[in-house]
Amino acid sequence: MSLFLRDLLRQNIIDRTDNRVLLIHITGFSHARLLAYDDYVLTQLQVETYHQLVQRVQNGEPLAYIVGYKEFYSRQFKVTPDTLIPRPETELLVEQVLAKAQHAAKVLDLGTGSACIAITLKLERPDLFITAVDKFADTLQIAQQNADNLHAEIEFISSDWYSSLGKQQFDIIVSNPPYIEANDEHLTALSYEPQSALTDFSDGLSCIREIVRLSHEHLLPNGWLLIEHGYDQGESVREIFTKNGLNNVVTIRDYADLERITIGMSN
Ligand SMILES: C[S@@+](CC[C@H](N)C(=O)[O-])C[C@H]1O[C@@H](n2cnc3c(N)ncnc32)[C@H](O)[C@@H]1O
Repeated sequence: MSLFLRDLLRQNIIDRTDNRVLLIHITGFSHARLLAYDDYVLTQLQVETYHQLVQRVQNGEPLAYIVGYKEFYSRQFKVTPDTLIPRPETELLVEQVLAKAQHAAKVLDLGTGSACIAITLKLERPDLFITAVDKFADTLQIAQQNADNLHAEIEFISSDWYSSLGKQQFDIIVSNPPYIEANDEHLTALSYEPQSALTDFSDGLSCIREIVRLSHEHLLPNGWLLIEHGYDQGESVREIFTKNGLNNVVTIRDYADLERITIGMSN
């Protein structure tokens, strides 16, 4: 029996948007074509693949790992189990950096992952000079592939936070570090993603403390530090910022009105 695209578009087994992403992946159609050609008859192989992938979604595997990409700031970023899947909240972090960056500013992205922050900044503002670091070679490989695919010129450095940066200084340091507490129950639901990208295996604030503590060595005068953190960490992060001598410290709320990004300025 022939199966039309419209039959699968109408399913209600998985989320409607996820279902469309799966069908785009299987057919190779654009979103517009997917909806316009809903009388397309799927091949036997496409139907089998569809059912296998739906099963994986139902088993809790993130869709981004199944299709191999995630959209961030309207661009496609390759993701693998070596990279955190970019989150919509992080787009707000990018917007904050864009608002602070002067012409030709030097920006450092700490813990770049898929390089979604670094690449988006460069593509939105080609005048910026972007350096991006990550501790893990496999992660940096994906970051570099994304930069090549999206034609963004980024300097990638393998580094444990600032350790390989020598005395380099920047106008802006931005980071979305691992900030989930070691014993947080949410980690179980995130078991497909690299644990070293999600948690500091401690109280959730140790990476943030390290990044803030050494920021004065790598920020130019009147430079900005911007860090994404957990919705319940705003007060602690503000305290870490002020104790380390940062000025104009404020926390910005995300689209869900939760404290999400703390920023501060160097002397
Ligand atoms: C929460 S993920 C953020 C990834 C990406 N920037 C994003 O926003 O989607 C944290 C990243 O920090 C990296 N990381 C963890 N510990 C690190 C360290 N000590 N030095 C450098 N990078 C580290 C992880 O590999 C991971 O890519």
